[in-house]
Amino acid sequence: MSADLLAPDPTYWGGKSVVVTGGAGFLGKPTVRMLTELGAEVRVPRSAEHDLTDPRACLDALAGAEVVVHLAANVGGIGFNRRNPGPLVRDNMAMGLNVFEACRQHGVAKLVAACSVCAYPKHTPTPFSEDRLWDGFPEESNAPYGLAKKMLIVLSDAYRRQYDLDSCVPVIANLYGPEDNFDLEDSHVIAAMVHRYVIATENGDPEVVLWGTGEPSREFLYVDDAARAMILAAEHRDSSQPFNIGTGVETKIRDLAALVARATGYRGATAWDTSLPDGQPVRYLDVTRAAEEIGFQAEVPLEQGLALTVESFRSSLSRT
Ligand SMILES: NC(=O)c1ccc[n+]([C@@H]2O[C@H](COP(=O)([O-])OP(=O)(O)OC[C@H]3O[C@@H](n4cnc5c(N)ncnc54)[C@H](OP(=O)(O)O)[C@@H]3O)[C@@H](O)[C@H]2O)c1
Repeated sequence: MSADLLAPDPTYWGGKSVVVTGGAGFLGKPTVRMLTELGAEVRVPRSAEHDLTDPRACLDALAGAEVVVHLAANVGGIGFNRRNPGPLVRDNMAMGLNVFEACRQHGVAKLVAACSVCAYPKHTPTPFSEDRLWDGFPEESNAPYGLAKKMLIVLSDAYRRQYDLDSCVPVIANLYGPEDNFDLEDSHVIAAMVHRYVIATENGDPEVVLWGTGEPSREFLYVDDAARAMILAAEHRDSSQPFNIGTGVETKIRDLAALVARATGYRGATAWDTSLPDGQPVRYLDVTRAAEEIGFQAEVPLEQGLALTVESFRSSLSRT
């Protein structure tokens, strides 16, 4: 990649008042940590005090912010998405709308609003290019979430043209890393695999059964890389055209399972429950635009990130 890669700039952040919605979440934690290290004054509105689906609470939460990084979302893995289409579309649309409107009313200088790869049409040629985002309907199980997130792009463009609000919308690949949600009820694919293989290793189970056929492919971005991308986006992106944030590397779920098994030291067999759905068949992003326009490139290789994720889950078990 020929683009100049950039590091976050402390002179941009020093003393800036920044609100990170969802700042106590999986992506929020490293984002807040990095912003604080860069010298920003960071506030994190928690849902218990500021339910961002409520316009008044949202207006209150964002008061005084110069920069807003909007990460709050109702989000989960494929099973969670299938069980909760109503809350997923309602909460994520409400939060997006309220955050844009509050930023407009407060005259916020920059808003970064996190979108997801789930916004892409089910059948998109790979690697997914931003120009294909509007070509069709998302994979059915994550459409309510994906389309609610996609409205952030419409909000960004409309509020820029009508009200001159400077916002941008990164479209983020599947994330993984330490302190992920490892609960099998609503976790994403890597956290769920780490959970299953670690427990199977401890129990000496002869077989781990995984969801689907193992044939689909995905792209996995280490969470700290994504946090750095949010920061570079705030510094450098002044367009409402969406831009992908990922590694650009495709990994089959079957190969991922082998890597997770190795990272956990599991020696048994892996079986696939093909009665359960696969989700979108193939997914990985064209990451050229982010490299060229915000100087971002992912740094953490999958094997290294998996080792850190396994370590994090093991230490969470030893604390319980
Ligand atoms: N994880 C992924 O693989 C992935 C991939 C692509 C894009 N993204 C996007 O990245 C962002 C962060 O995801 P994540 O995985 O970090 O999610 P997460 O760990 O579930 O964190 C989400 C945070 O949102 C906050 N929140 C939820 N509902 C709220 C409400 N009604 N009012 C105020 N706050 C609320 C929660 O705050 P409290 O803790 O205070 O309740 C929570 O800490 C989301 O926008 C998501 O769409 C994630």
